[in-house]
Amino acid sequence: MKIRDGVTGKTKIFGVIGNPIEHSISPQLHNTISRYMKIDAAYVPFRVEQDNLQGAVEGFKALNVGGFNVTIPHKKQIMKFIDQNSKEAILMGAVNTVKNVDGKLFGYNTDAEGFSRSFKEETGTGFKDKTVAMIGAGGAARAIAVKIAMEGAKKIFICNRTVSRAVEIVDIVNNNIAEIAACCETCEVRNREIIEYSNIIINTTSVGMYPDMDKSPLEEGFMYNKDQIFYDVVYNPVKTKFLADAERNGCKIVNGLGMLLYQGMLSYEIWMNVKITGEVIRNIFKYFSR
Ligand code: ATR
Repeated sequence: MKIRDGVTGKTKIFGVIGNPIEHSISPQLHNTISRYMKIDAAYVPFRVEQDNLQGAVEGFKALNVGGFNVTIPHKKQIMKFIDQNSKEAILMGAVNTVKNVDGKLFGYNTDAEGFSRSFKEETGTGFKDKTVAMIGAGGAARAIAVKIAMEGAKKIFICNRTVSRAVEIVDIVNNNIAEIAACCETCEVRNREIIEYSNIIINTTSVGMYPDMDKSPLEEGFMYNKDQIFYDVVYNPVKTKFLADAERNGCKIVNGLGMLLYQGMLSYEIWMNVKITGEVIRNIFKYFSR
């Protein structure tokens, strides 16, 4: 009898938990990777309410699910139900990838590594000795700031509407990695001057995301410099106003699609103990850029 495609008795099960979860592209991403990698695995979405988080984790263990991704709003809360969180994930304050090894759960953060990989792939440069300005101070900003600091940035400025949240991230970086972070409260200069002076400018806020596509986190009259690189974690639209303005002024731009795809591929590698080949990576980018 010919073995048909699809779930069999041997299929390894993975998934993503979040709330809401309907918009997630992770099921499509992971099932596509499995198809390209010819690995017998299936990945499904689970909508989990905050109050059921612990129960969901126990359930995954009981059902021997191989691992799962964690998305909004559970990335921080999940950490207390994990047996061992990585050192990086603890500093980043968030786990987006959980691996189940014989009933013991290991937590990782692949968002920040995904960000770093996509930045390097698309710009051909990294963060060593760079001055970086970040707009926003939420969960994504914390993970990115920690990563950039670990990779040897010279200076990180964090500019946020709520200064106290920026101060929290500044303290985490300065107390645990290197004394290189500052925010508008601790700087003599204003946000705009900090950003104009930086080599790399990263938007980690949702400003400019669909459907508010006419908005940018930068104020009018910003002085661009052609050597600057602008990165937006937003990927819908593909080119936010923040990026379009920068591109019009001759700057290099990168959107958040690569970060999204790489965080997923890195999770996959952790679960399956495989290396996703360059050819599969190219196919994944082609498939999800359509
Ligand atoms: P995530 O975990 O995805 O980073 P978050 O924790 O909600 O999301 O953080 C969103 C960030 O975007 C915050 O820094 C937020 O600013 P506040 O800390 O002042 O709330 C910022 N942000 C969201 N909407 C914004 C807006 N309209 N203008 C300026 N900043 C905004």
